Amino acid sequence: MKILFVTGNKNKVVEAAAALRPLEVEVEQIDYDYPEIQHDTLEPIAAYGARHTAEYLAKQSFARFGGVKLRLPCEPKVRETDGLPSVKSCKNEVFARYLEDSLPEISRRIGDSARYLKCFIFQKDFQKTVIVEDAGLFIPALGGFPGPYSAYVHDTIGNGGILQLMRQLPNRGASFKSVIGLCRHGEEPKLFTGIVEGTITAEGRGTGGFGYDPIFEPKERDGRTFAEMNTDEKNQYSHRARALRKLVEYLKKQMQ
Ligand code: IMP
Repeated sequence: MKILFVTGNKNKVVEAAAALRPLEVEVEQIDYDYPEIQHDTLEPIAAYGARHTAEYLAKQSFARFGGVKLRLPCEPKVRETDGLPSVKSCKNEVFARYLEDSLPEISRRIGDSARYLKCFIFQKDFQKTVIVEDAGLFIPALGGFPGPYSAYVHDTIGNGGILQLMRQLPNRGASFKSVIGLCRHGEEPKLFTGIVEGTITAEGRGTGGFGYDPIFEPKERDGRTFAEMNTDEKNQYSHRARALRKLVEYLKKQMQ
């Protein structure tokens, strides 16, 4: 099974791939800039992004296969080679490659009609499983700021700006939240959330991770920031890892 992770952030893909590898679920990154709605919580943002992208990809499939009105550019001629079927003489290259990729799965049914073949391939391409993830840093002493605006705030005032705002505030509690939205075309998005509690440090520490990692110290650990941990350590406690674990449980049940 393959999941398409729609994000421009490679760090997130590395974390997701590590979590899903034991399930033999492959994670492919798609760098598609889906529209983000404005909301003061993360859930509707992730749900909208996942649904929008699943529909966008389905429309692309329509353009590719629907353009030929469900008629193959040419009927695939299938023959057995070394016990495996292979496609011969398909003039449309994209379609030919697609058939080649799909053949191991449909080889059992290869005797079925071309019509069945078309529908099978069409549906397989159409129903891509998409995930998006929206994360945010929530600081109660700042009324939950930056929350859903974390990306903008990080790009503008950065970690230094947050430390400045927190100067002389006695309550340095904070939490990271991650919401993963999963969607397939025509289905309602499913959401998986993960939270990690911690504190904002007095100054940035560490060079690992990304974003707010240097100024966030998770509560359950030994006083190091996320940026002072390696990816495996961060993955044991992080908000994203927790959301991913819920996603893994859901996929496990689906695959049974
Ligand atoms: P987004 O979900 O990619 O929009 O992330 C929102 C903001 O939070 C971005 O500035 C990210 O860099 C930051 N962020 C998201 N996840 C993490 C994390 O695991 N550690 C540190 N910063 C993060």
